[in-house]
Amino acid sequence: MTITTTKTIAFVSAFFLLGFLFIGVGCEADSSGADQAEAADDFELTGTAEAGADNYAIHCATCHGADGKGDGPGGRALTPSPTDFTTGDIPAGRMYKAVSEGGMAVGKAATMPPFGNSLSEQEMQDIVAYTLEFGE
Ligand code: HEC
Repeated sequence: MTITTTKTIAFVSAFFLLGFLFIGVGCEADSSGADQAEAADDFELTGTAEAGADNYAIHCATCHGADGKGDGPGGRALTPSPTDFTTGDIPAGRMYKAVSEGGMAVGKAATMPPFGNSLSEQEMQDIVAYTLEFGE
């Protein structure tokens, strides 16, 4: 191997390493934004899953699916797809915010409608409790 090739390889590796660093920083900036949104509301879950089942079936299942997998008939044509709740990684506070104020309030798609004007706080609490169970 000549010195030039070694240098080229070193340069190319450094270049890729930097690239990955930048991607890493980008991801972190993204998740810390979400953390802030969560920290903004110190949410207390008071709903019960049992009471939320019917409203989930009426208002959410068409997009998020009866089993919460994000595969409801009304969601299939949507990009991005409705969230899959079975991964269980959406905190209750963020869940409530999305349901109440819509997807955009948590940095997600606007096709996720807000329910704050059509459902009561208790109804949304119960739906959140029900939705969280998909992740358990
Ligand atoms: C018209 C289809 C539709 C309906 C109806 C709907 N959603 Fe969504 N929902 C979506 C889409 C699309 C997203 C955004 C996915 C994305 O941006 O990655 C979403 C996102 C969400 C999120 C945000 C997830 C996150 O990552 O923070 C929650 C929580 C949620 N929906 C809960 C519900 C609940 C509960 C109901 C019923 C009260 C409901 N949705 C009704 C389509 C829908």
